[in-house]
Amino acid sequence: MSADKVMMGLDIGSSWVRAVICTVGSDGNIMVDGICERPSEGIRQGVIVNIEQTIKTITSVINEAELQAGANIQSMIIGVGGNHIEGIPSQGVVGINAKDQEINREDIYRSLEVARAFELPLEREILHTLVQEFRVDGRGGIKDPIDMLGHRLESKVLIVTASSSICQNARKCIQRAGFQVQRLIAQQLGDAEAVLSTEEKEMGTILINIGGGTTNMIAYVNGAPVYTGGILMGGSHVTNDIAYLLNKPKVIAESLKCDYGNCHLPSVDPQEMILIPQVGNLPSIKMPKKELSKIIEPRMAEIFSLLQVELERKQVRGSFGGGIVLVGGGALLSGATELASEVFRLPARIGFPEALHGLDRSYINPKYTVTLGSVMSEARRIRDVAGSANTVHRDKKSRSVSKRLKGFFRTIF
Ligand SMILES: Nc1ncnc2c1ncn2[C@@H]1O[C@H](COP(=O)(O)OP(=O)(O)OP(=O)(O)O)[C@@H](O)[C@H]1O
Ligand SMILES: [Mg+2]
Repeated sequence: MSADKVMMGLDIGSSWVRAVICTVGSDGNIMVDGICERPSEGIRQGVIVNIEQTIKTITSVINEAELQAGANIQSMIIGVGGNHIEGIPSQGVVGINAKDQEINREDIYRSLEVARAFELPLEREILHTLVQEFRVDGRGGIKDPIDMLGHRLESKVLIVTASSSICQNARKCIQRAGFQVQRLIAQQLGDAEAVLSTEEKEMGTILINIGGGTTNMIAYVNGAPVYTGGILMGGSHVTNDIAYLLNKPKVIAESLKCDYGNCHLPSVDPQEMILIPQVGNLPSIKMPKKELSKIIEPRMAEIFSLLQVELERKQVRGSFGGGIVLVGGGALLSGATELASEVFRLPARIGFPEALHGLDRSYINPKYTVTLGSVMSEARRIRDVAGSANTVHRDKKSRSVSKRLKGFFRTIF
């Protein structure tokens, strides 16, 4: 039996840096030992723009998490997001060599390697190879081709790529802070791991993380990821609009947004008044709440419309019976689900991460999906790899091999 593993997930966001330390048991169960956040410095629109400031923030958040957990961490899983994350569809075709024409693990590896062997655009690196489906002799929709008979195996994948310089800067910060990067994970996958069920992926779901400076998105159709990406616009743009139009400091604009903001105009009572604080000890002034919503709504509608354009640009089609799921701090803005539902013409809900052992209820919050999802995804990966290795060792040809390997191939790359 393998020993418990202690791991850390770190989300280096534009507004907040968040860290979680967990113990993952050999059964895959996760126990949260420490979790905390610090306001970001040196990060803009999901990208590190000041290495020294970022190192300071990262170090302080890691130290706090280590203190809570009573553990010393050497390496961590880092969530990377922003519009530089791009999913590129690809496919790989191989012939089946075995005399009995039975598809085995190596055939699947070969087909995935062929799918990954395309000319990567300059300055890009591959973060993940996500299997969409396999085709055997032209028959599609196969999730697990092991043991099937055929002459030709085709894998259809979504290769999630990222800007290498942005990833290198993240690695550099972690190393200069005295730690190692265990793995980089696209934030979209962390979000999905934390809040989406298998059923929702099967039904088709669009998962949107509205952060401070970025909005990330992942879409699933028929259980397979078909889009990963994002835009450089988020909740801080809404705050900036309020600050500019009401001529107030950002800190007042931010609290107005969080306390009274609503991005769905029809939901706001036209009679309701709010108090706008003034600087320099001047008395607060009254303003209709609807006026604040009139500032917020266009920017939020723009964010959702830009995401829609992104899906059209990438020709993402299919049925989305699972609707829209909103996460990230921006999902907490009142009216966000109603507006998303109107723009996408789909039902929408807020995604809350699942209640893990040791996790205080206050962290079951859409802001924590990347942080928690990154360790959940790593825990599942370890579980799948260990499970498949054990099962293969026990009986190479048993049916359970296939079952285990399904997860293995989904997560190994
Ligand atoms: N209760 C709330 N109502 C409205 N907006 C909120 C609320 N709480 C947080 N936000 C907004 O959420 C945004 C921050 O979200 P989050 O913490 O997910 O961002 P981040 O991960 O640091 O940034 P990014 O993902 O862009 O790198 C801010 O713009 C903040 O104003
Ligand atoms: Mg974020």
